[in-house]
Amino acid sequence: MSDESICSTSTGASRMLLAEVSCKCHCGTDKDQPASAAFTQTALHRAANCHNFRQEVSESMAILDSLRKLRRWDEEALHFVDLCCGSAMTATFLALSAPKSTVTAVDIRPPQHLPHFHEAGIANVRYLCEDMTRPGFLEVMEKALLDVALPAIVLGMHCCGALSVVATQIYNRFPQCVAILLCPCCLLRNIDVKRADSLMPEVPKSLLSLSEARPDERYERWAHGLAQLLPEATCERLPDMLTPCNAMIFAQK
Ligand SMILES: C[S@@+](CC[C@H](N)C(=O)[O-])C[C@H]1O[C@@H](n2cnc3c(N)ncnc32)[C@H](O)[C@@H]1O
Repeated sequence: MSDESICSTSTGASRMLLAEVSCKCHCGTDKDQPASAAFTQTALHRAANCHNFRQEVSESMAILDSLRKLRRWDEEALHFVDLCCGSAMTATFLALSAPKSTVTAVDIRPPQHLPHFHEAGIANVRYLCEDMTRPGFLEVMEKALLDVALPAIVLGMHCCGALSVVATQIYNRFPQCVAILLCPCCLLRNIDVKRADSLMPEVPKSLLSLSEARPDERYERWAHGLAQLLPEATCERLPDMLTPCNAMIFAQK
């Protein structure tokens, strides 16, 4: 399939959105070239043609804008750890816009569901296909942090339920992690609560029993409860995100 035909599968609105994004995000090696232009490549179609494209762009932009409040991320050499990366749109923007940095994208999806970074000429993304809840995952993460040996920023955009807790564990446990941005989505599932003692012993009972709270209060309480697992974290709503799950938790060491 040609690049042109891939482009034509994106909606007009999506392409306009990519043009807007180009104002915010530029390829690090060529400041005149918007990073979003790269998304028209066939090799990146997994990132560009996801079904909820507008929402995904708003989420990626929320991460990039939030990162800017913490660090000069497009100039420093950093290690971005994009947990539950999904279609890897954020990982792709980061890799293109911050060429001195390394991105480790983590998800349980098979690698063939990710953008073809190598074919697209993007060498600074590594993909870890992992179940983040499996025993031993934190050791894999530690090895990745040691291998890259750069200050790491943990990113968790819509890590479902217990996976947001795992994101806090990575940040809290490993000294290489200097900052975290965490935007939770769904609450803990019953299966997560059942294995809380082994998977997340630090989570207080009040967070494990949120299903008893009023439905309109649950997400807010979940986000604030997660923030309390991180030293000196703040939490703010980002209304530009096209989703009600728009609480961004920030912490840095
Ligand atoms: C709600 S999506 C978020 C995707 C992306 N961060 C975004 O905001 O568009 C949750 C992601 O978590 C991944 N996931 C689910 N269970 C997982 C697990 N046990 N380990 C790692 N990733 C998992 C899914 O494959 C999916 O891509």
